[in-house]
Amino acid sequence: MSFTMLLTCILALLSLSHLNGLHAIEIEPNSSITAGSNSTWKSPSGDFEFGFYALPSGLFLVGIWYGRIPETLVWYSSTSVEPNSQIQFTSAGQLVVAHPDGSIAQNIFSGAASSAQMRDDGNFVMKNSNLRPVWESFNSPANTILPGQTLQSNQILYSKGKGDSNYSLGNYMLQMQRDGNLLLKAYHWSDPAYWYTSTLTPNVSLVFNATTALMYLVSGNRITYSLSNTPPTSVKDYYHRATIDENGNFQQYAYHKRNGTEWRRVWRAVEDPCRVNAICGVYGFCTSPSNESVKCECIPGYIPMDHQDVSKGCHPPAVINYCAEINFKLQVFEDTDFQFNTDFFRLANVTFQGCKKAVTDDCNIVAATYNTLTSTCVKKSLPLLNARNSSSSKGQIALLKVPNTVESGTFEVPKNKSFNVRVFLKVLLAVTATLACFFGAFAVYYHPFTQRLTRRTKRHIESCEDGKNSEDDDLVLSNWILRCVVSRKLEVVVRHDSEVLNDFKRFEEMALVGLWCVHPNPAFRPSIKQVMQMLDGTVEVGVPPLVHDLMMVGQGL
Ligand SMILES: *[C@@H]1O[C@H](CO)[C@@H](O)[C@H](O)[C@H]1NC(C)=O
Ligand SMILES: *[C@@H]1O[C@H](CO)[C@@H](O)[C@H](O)[C@H]1NC(C)=O
Ligand SMILES: *[C@@H]1O[C@H](CO)[C@@H](O)[C@H](O)[C@H]1NC(C)=O
Ligand SMILES: *[C@@H]1O[C@H](CO)[C@@H](O)[C@H](O)[C@H]1NC(C)=O
Ligand SMILES: *[C@@H]1O[C@H](CO)[C@@H](O)[C@H](O)[C@H]1NC(C)=O
Ligand SMILES: *[C@@H]1O[C@H](CO)[C@@H](O)[C@H](O)[C@H]1NC(C)=O
Ligand SMILES: *[C@@H]1O[C@H](CO)[C@@H](O)[C@H](O)[C@H]1NC(C)=O
Ligand SMILES: *[C@@H]1O[C@H](CO)[C@@H](O)[C@H](O)[C@H]1NC(C)=O
Ligand SMILES: *[C@@H]1O[C@H](CO)[C@@H](O)[C@H](O)[C@H]1NC(C)=O
Repeated sequence: MSFTMLLTCILALLSLSHLNGLHAIEIEPNSSITAGSNSTWKSPSGDFEFGFYALPSGLFLVGIWYGRIPETLVWYSSTSVEPNSQIQFTSAGQLVVAHPDGSIAQNIFSGAASSAQMRDDGNFVMKNSNLRPVWESFNSPANTILPGQTLQSNQILYSKGKGDSNYSLGNYMLQMQRDGNLLLKAYHWSDPAYWYTSTLTPNVSLVFNATTALMYLVSGNRITYSLSNTPPTSVKDYYHRATIDENGNFQQYAYHKRNGTEWRRVWRAVEDPCRVNAICGVYGFCTSPSNESVKCECIPGYIPMDHQDVSKGCHPPAVINYCAEINFKLQVFEDTDFQFNTDFFRLANVTFQGCKKAVTDDCNIVAATYNTLTSTCVKKSLPLLNARNSSSSKGQIALLKVPNTVESGTFEVPKNKSFNVRVFLKVLLAVTATLACFFGAFAVYYHPFTQRLTRRTKRHIESCEDGKNSEDDDLVLSNWILRCVVSRKLEVVVRHDSEVLNDFKRFEEMALVGLWCVHPNPAFRPSIKQVMQMLDGTVEVGVPPLVHDLMMVGQGL
């Protein structure tokens, strides 16, 4: 065998093995895929497909998914397009998404590639004429990394939106920071992070090892931190992926390649799902008894911003003055805590009662937690984030000023929109009620009706007073009104004034509520709730007792 023949053989063998090794199926320029046609660019083994992923809405996403198991997107671009749009690997070597009319919806790669491959590891690679990769899906990840993929310094995975087919940008990110720290954060909330590796060496990347399916951080050639420690199921028999999910957790899953039925979790970053920051929004309350699912409610006394989706957060029923104890009840919640890093002020070595007092006395404070083991009382800053009753809040006692203006402890989610109106009215009513009590006396004395009436007093007083004169003193005015009300003669006074008559019933009621509020015996003064009920008509506003009796006596009845 001549040397040249040998060389040719070797070269042929090399190129064969080369081809086998890469499982290369080349996609040439001037190729396209049409949305709705079912055609895809498959990897040689059929494990992965690149193409248009059909959404339930009838629109399509450009994506990469598993070809042999129920579709799971491992890469996608958030732009959705209509049927008959095209993915075009143009003659010029670009990769673009075009609308049916030919206009460009998205540029995926705008350089000049001469070939492309969907590879068996899930990476879609475009190469130039020197066979150097010029674009890889592994280098612009969405929410998932795959074995063999590396999250380089400064790269980010973003969670997808909430809901099965919602691939819009979600609320959470996994960031491989330049400083070497890998962290999970709720980036809308200037959140420093709710999970992090504290690995502060420069030039760190997150490696998802293709042979062991373990994830670890590498600095230079050195492993500086292991995320998953025990080797999960083998890469030979299982598909693996690591995804930041819509609830902000970073988890590794495995799916048996031949007889699997579902993705099984093999590792997760955050053990307590309620530890994910802002998972239930502002003033939300997270419960997770099993460390698995998350349930969002409002903290007691607060109202959901969106009744269809309580996890968007809640708001207080009104602007509450937390200096006045009449406005709130301090309630105690066992095994409940708030976000760990919003500590406002820490009191060491106090008793539970001391903590309660410190919270009640502090107008700026709405909530605190008490740790029985360390006897510390920690006041929380506003807005309250991450109120939770879950595995990581065991042993903490939360103290919360629950506003009186709505029934406390109502967690129920109303179904229809009309509730909003009712809440609004209730809030208005609560404000009115507070004002009524605050200004009860003023209302009685200085209400325009009253003043108008006062002017008429001279003319009409006899009709209520049965001839008695009571012009002596301002104080007498409330008695005078009361007398008129009791003897149901107030209307007589205003019978010539149609404007007053129109709203007469209301005025009479307000006058009575005011009288209740300034009752000489504090025990008879109504609570805000009762005042609200009086004003919204649930409770009939009677003539205050004692006063009534006095009046009767005074009238000699
Ligand atoms: C692209 O492909 C179409 C047919 O699929 C062909 O008609 C056209 O000439 C090709 N263009 C180039 C520049 O190769
Ligand atoms: C695509 O596949 C689905 C299900 O396999 C089939 O119902 C549909 O007719 C196909 N569409 C086209 C254009 O081939
Ligand atoms: C999709 O998710 C985003 C972010 O979580 C959310 O704002 C949006 O309302 C969701 N869309 C639908 C249709 O659920
Ligand atoms: C993956 O792990 C194997 C076995 O520990 C090791 O030999 C290999 O170098 C690792 N691969 C990478 C890319 O680090
Ligand atoms: C970072 O690490 C990569 C490989 O791990 C190396 O090629 C690169 O030179 C390093 N950069 C710096 C700034 O150290
Ligand atoms: C899959 O089937 C094989 C036998 O066909 C069995 O040994 C294996 O345990 C099965 N794996 C799973 C995950 O069910
Ligand atoms: C939840 O996680 C915590 C912390 O990892 C653990 O102590 C607890 O046993 C778990 N609870 C359940 C029900 O799995
Ligand atoms: C917190 O959860 C525990 C166990 O699930 C329960 O016993 C306790 O009552 C809860 N506390 C509150 C305030 O909901
Ligand atoms: C806590 O307070 C008690 C009584 O006030 C005192 O005896 C004790 O030394 C204090 N402990 C600390 C750690 O300050």
